[in-house]
Amino acid sequence: MQKLITWIDDRFPLIKVWEEHMAKYYAPRNFNIWYFFGSLALLVLVIQIVTGIFLTMHYKPDVNMAFASVEYIMRDVPWGWLMRYLHSTGASMFFVIVYLHMFRGMLYGSYREPRELVWLIGMLIYVALMAEAFMGYLLPWGNMSYWGAQVIISLFGAIPVVGDALTEWIRGDFVVGDATLTRFFSFHVIMVPLMLAGLVYVHIVALHKVGSNNPDGIEIKQNKGPDGIPVDGIPFHPYYTVKDIFGTVVFLFLFFLIVFYAPEFGGWFLEKDNFTPANILQTPPDIVPLWYFTPFYSVLRAVTWEWLPLGAKLWGVIAMGMSIGFFFLLPWLDRSPVKSIRYRGWMYKTALTLFVVSFVVMGYLGTKNPTNVDLLWFSNRTWSQIGLFVYFAFFILMPIYTTLDKTKPVPERVR
Ligand code: HEM
Repeated sequence: MQKLITWIDDRFPLIKVWEEHMAKYYAPRNFNIWYFFGSLALLVLVIQIVTGIFLTMHYKPDVNMAFASVEYIMRDVPWGWLMRYLHSTGASMFFVIVYLHMFRGMLYGSYREPRELVWLIGMLIYVALMAEAFMGYLLPWGNMSYWGAQVIISLFGAIPVVGDALTEWIRGDFVVGDATLTRFFSFHVIMVPLMLAGLVYVHIVALHKVGSNNPDGIEIKQNKGPDGIPVDGIPFHPYYTVKDIFGTVVFLFLFFLIVFYAPEFGGWFLEKDNFTPANILQTPPDIVPLWYFTPFYSVLRAVTWEWLPLGAKLWGVIAMGMSIGFFFLLPWLDRSPVKSIRYRGWMYKTALTLFVVSFVVMGYLGTKNPTNVDLLWFSNRTWSQIGLFVYFAFFILMPIYTTLDKTKPVPERVR
């Protein structure tokens, strides 16, 4: 074994890479459970790619065969049901993990200097992931696949002048059809996964250049011992490889519990309307995307003010774009002298809490009919309009409340 390693190492920087990124990569010693989600996201990316390869062996990207080919995978292909449920559950769990991973960044100010690029690359990953999920959802050619794609692609029609031509160009037809299905298939299985893999690689390269943040938001590289090693750092391997293996085991336990016992997850992971084939003549009673898109769908539907110039639809689309776009600006909106929530004052804590509440409530409202009253007093639409203001206030007012907030002194060493 030693001889083989030496042979490879003479021709490839094996030991150097291993030491630089694992055995001699010093990570803060105070990581908590919030630091599991990066490695879990990597794990789910691998699960999605592997199960996706097997699904592609039997799936037919053709409007006349797509739905039946998925049923064939579920019923006749040996272990096909498992591959499909792993893939569909994996998609939702990917978003659970990525949302928690992003929230960790907001708790501990991980997007702040010097990690702005880590965050920006992360946001590009997030946008690519949304595109990946959206296009994947069309592939089973269920009725919700069809109408969901129809609604979302038609949003481009709100863009003045070029809108109609653009929607036709994206669909490759006057309606969502075979041309749309085949191009979504090729993007979903090749283009976006390649982009994701490349982006994840640079995400980690950028992170290892600056080093990880931690729950105290203290830069451990600023306090090195005589040996040049950060006094609050521990080698990633074995300490965090072992910790991540533990996280992986706990995650896989929950993941398989869903895969084996509740793969539809009450309609949240696989929608009821997608168990019938696409029907161009029959719209589902409520066209709703899967849960991970519903906060943004709520933003879109909340903008109903027709007096706005060029119409409410355009502004709905702009608001939806901004509700994602604002995340890119976080490193520059946050003016607090401290990074971690542990040393911030009540203002940021309140703002972040309200933001999370608005995100969750809008996620719920996005699955409901806007005219119904499902929460207290007001219609779902009115609640999502209130949610929209809270959501945007979090970002727009951030430079103000993070400047005014009374922070606590940050200790020298991590806790
Ligand atoms: C496929 C998706 C992703 C993968 C595989 C991934 C992977 C990772 C890994 C392995 C780490 C180091 C371990 C950790 O800190 O948990 C990390 C850190 C980080 N990621 Fe991601 N990530 C993904 C998406 C995102 C997204 C969407 C964002 C934000 C927009 C993001 C922002 C960050 C930040 C700021 C850090 C540094 C955190 C700190 O040091 O406190 N990542 N990521």
